[in-house]
Formats: sequence, C-alpha cells, structure tokens
Amino acid sequence: MRQQVITAADLSRADVNRVLDRAAEIADDPGAVDDRLAGEVVALCFFEPSTRTRMSFETATHRLGGDVVDMGTPEESSVAKGESLADTVRVVDGYADAIVLRHPREGAATLAAEFVDAPLVNAGDGAGHHPTQTLLDLYTMRSTVGLDGVTVGVMGDLKYGRTVHSLATALTAFDVDQHFVSPESLQLPPGVRLDLHDAGATVREHTDLEAVLSELDALYVTRIQRERFPDESAYREVAGQYRIDAATLEAARDDMVVMHPLPRIDEIAPDVDDTDHAVYFRQAHNGVPVRMALLDLMLADDQGGEWE
Ligand code: NCD
Repeated sequence: MRQQVITAADLSRADVNRVLDRAAEIADDPGAVDDRLAGEVVALCFFEPSTRTRMSFETATHRLGGDVVDMGTPEESSVAKGESLADTVRVVDGYADAIVLRHPREGAATLAAEFVDAPLVNAGDGAGHHPTQTLLDLYTMRSTVGLDGVTVGVMGDLKYGRTVHSLATALTAFDVDQHFVSPESLQLPPGVRLDLHDAGATVREHTDLEAVLSELDALYVTRIQRERFPDESAYREVAGQYRIDAATLEAARDDMVVMHPLPRIDEIAPDVDDTDHAVYFRQAHNGVPVRMALLDLMLADDQGGEWE
C-alpha cells in the first residue's frame, strides 16, 4: 500500500475500491480483525480541533488491536514552546508505526511527510485536503446511491472546505456528474478547478440550489469554514445563506441522499434528520470501518506493498 495519503490525488480508482471493499468486509465481520494491528502504534498529531476524525482513528486503531499515542492539543505539547512541525513529526516518527496529522496550514502534511519514514495520513491541512474523509464519503455514496452514473451536488463553502477539494478530485475517477452550489465568493479555488479540468471533469457552478436539486442523487452540504476567513465581516456576508430544511427537499427526488462531513452549524435544519434523505450520521459512523480498512492495508503484516 502507498505509504503516504496526503491528497485525494493519491487515491486512484483502484485504491479507493480496495479500501472500500476492505471496509465493507470489516463492517460485515468486525470480530475477524480484532488483532490485526497487535503491537502497532498509531500517533495522532492534531494541531487543530477534531471530534470525528480523531476519535474514529482512535476507535479504528483500538478495534484492530493496536495502540494510540496522542500528542494532545498544541497548547499541551512542545508546540507551545515554539517547536517546528518538522521537529515534532521527526520525533513522533521514532515512537509510532503510522502518523495521523491534522494542521491548520495548507501543505503541512506534504512537508511533514518529507521528514518521516512512517506512513503519514493527512487528516486535514488547512483549506487543502482531507482524503480519509473522502474515503468515508465515497463508502457512504457507494452503499446508498452508487458511484457510477450518478449526479452529485456539492454545496456550501467550496473555497475553504477541504473535504470538498478531496471529494471533488476523487469523484473524477468515477462516472459522476458534479454540480457546485455556492455564493460566488466561495467557489472552488483555482488549484482544485485545474485538477478537475485536467481530469476531464466539467465544473458546473450555480449560485442557486434550485437550479439542480431535482436532478441530484446526492447532495453534499458543507459548513462555512468561519475559522479560515480573513475577517469576521467577510464571514457574516455569507453565513446562513445556504441552508436546507425538510421543505427545501420536497423538490428533490425521494431517494436523494443528503450528506455532510459534520460538524453542521445551521446549514441543515434539524427537521431534515428525520427524513429518509439524511445519511450524515451514518456517514460519520462509516469513518470507523473505513479508517480500519486504511490502517489495515497500510500496516498489517500480510498487506504490504504498494497500492494496486
Ligand atoms: C471536516 C474538516 O475538519 O474539514 N470535519 C471532519 O473532519 N468531519 C469538515 C468541517 O470542519 O467543516
């Protein structure tokens, strides 16, 4: 298996299918893998807040019989003393068999990977990428609407939303029509747009969900990334604009699924939770078997080797 998972460009269609197939096997029979990572240590280095990603990596490691060492918050670690990212990961590299890194700066995972021998997984680098979120998003899509011959809408903060950047890139390996719905100021950044064009994908952009809602098999909603805005007034200009509720979804197909990487703020009203459209909590739960599959493929003795 490939040693580093930094951006969605590291995930070919074959890689994705391999992880998703393994995740499905694990979800069917979790007891069969409970000592796959016995003796292996996974380091969690989170320089930014996290609930799902951190806890699901931790749960995944425990469920495979491995151990976790956790850097704690930056305030609790030597980061607070001014240690560089390169030095921190170089030290952790000597403690652990794999490193899971989240950092507020785009490109941090690419840089950190240069300083370590252990496999490194990008758990989010600023407004860059979040490839393991994409794996669980794809798993959720594959098990609900499928991954080929489908139409997907991605709505919200497409500029700063790293889950969007990774998902949109990864979907170009599948037969998916993608529609992007956002205010003009939060459209996809040029780098991601270029990746999509290079992959032969058409970037269809809308400022209005109504323009495409009835065509969609899946609607992927994202939070406006308040912490990445240069100033609060720019955030306030767009906050609360892209919000769906159960009434909005009356115009959608009955079998359209609503996804969200979570956390949500106000972009999906609670009345959507009780509709058949809502799959976002199931999506979050899928993070455990998917991250188990990834760690298993990266670390278990009998897996070895490169991605297919
Ligand atoms: C996302 C992230 O951290 O990018 N959260 C997650 O990992 N599920 C999405 C977000 O914070 O909006």
